[in-house]
Amino acid sequence: MSEHIPVLLNEVLNFLDPSDGKIYFDGTFGGGGYSRAILEKADCSVIACDRDELVIPIAKKLHTEFPLRFSFFHSKFSDIKKVLAQQNIQKLDGIVLDLGLSNFQLEDESRGFSFKSKGNVDMTMGLCDETAMDIIHRCSEEQLANIIYTFSEERFSRRIAKNIKKNLRSIKTAEDLANAVRSCVRRTGKIDQATKTFQALRIFVNRELEELKIILNESLELLNSGGKIVVVSFHSLEDRIVKSFFKECGQQRCDFQIVTKKPIAPSEEEIEANPKSRSAKLRCLLRL
Ligand SMILES: C[S@@+](CC[C@H](N)C(=O)[O-])C[C@H]1O[C@@H](n2cnc3c(N)ncnc32)[C@H](O)[C@@H]1O
Repeated sequence: MSEHIPVLLNEVLNFLDPSDGKIYFDGTFGGGGYSRAILEKADCSVIACDRDELVIPIAKKLHTEFPLRFSFFHSKFSDIKKVLAQQNIQKLDGIVLDLGLSNFQLEDESRGFSFKSKGNVDMTMGLCDETAMDIIHRCSEEQLANIIYTFSEERFSRRIAKNIKKNLRSIKTAEDLANAVRSCVRRTGKIDQATKTFQALRIFVNRELEELKIILNESLELLNSGGKIVVVSFHSLEDRIVKSFFKECGQQRCDFQIVTKKPIAPSEEEIEANPKSRSAKLRCLLRL
């Protein structure tokens, strides 16, 4: 499996500005790129979590390098309060979230995140109640169409849901699911016809938008003054949530200020070196 290349790493560090003695929370540990860079930048502490148990060995290795300053929890970031309580920590100086999937997850055939995958229609990142296969079986055609439309704005959602339900018995792998979508959607261009449907199912299976809303709300009371929330998102549904949440905080609470009036995007050099960074957007909020 190829390594996960951290996206917008320099920009994340510039906004977070790690300094000695401070405590940071990395809610999306992944390959550990952000956590490591924060720990190397200053004599600070990092508490990290990830819902995917696949990253535990990476976290263990980082812990052996920074035994007193790094701790990891296999947990969802919406459980931030529980995680901090276990460490007896009440306040943080920064929270960083790098949403979406790591390379490890994308390339793990058995997860079925990629529509070329011969793996199961799973799409779980970890700590989920249902797989994507459970959902396409459990939901009615109408419910499935609503999921696809709500979480990807796919305009052919009804037609796709109908075709998935019609071919349910022959859908065994992620590739079969992608073919069921492709066979009823005619679209030209570079983007695969199944992209939106896969995005929608993944977001729904992992309750990604709820997770994000919960941690954003929780984070307000957890930040010390001068503390920042830095979020890197990869699609418009997530970015919209972050943007409007930050805007509301900036308008309604005099102790919060938006640092990034416009979202920060990767440079051309970064996109060339790591095409997966293409759609990334960084936003930052400061507690005054
Ligand atoms: C894009 S990767 C993070 C990469 C990391 N910043 C790095 O530099 O290596 C996203 C990670 O967040 C995790 N993740 C996504 N949603 C999560 C959630 N709600 N709670 C905890 N972890 C989550 C995924 O399992 C994945 O490992």
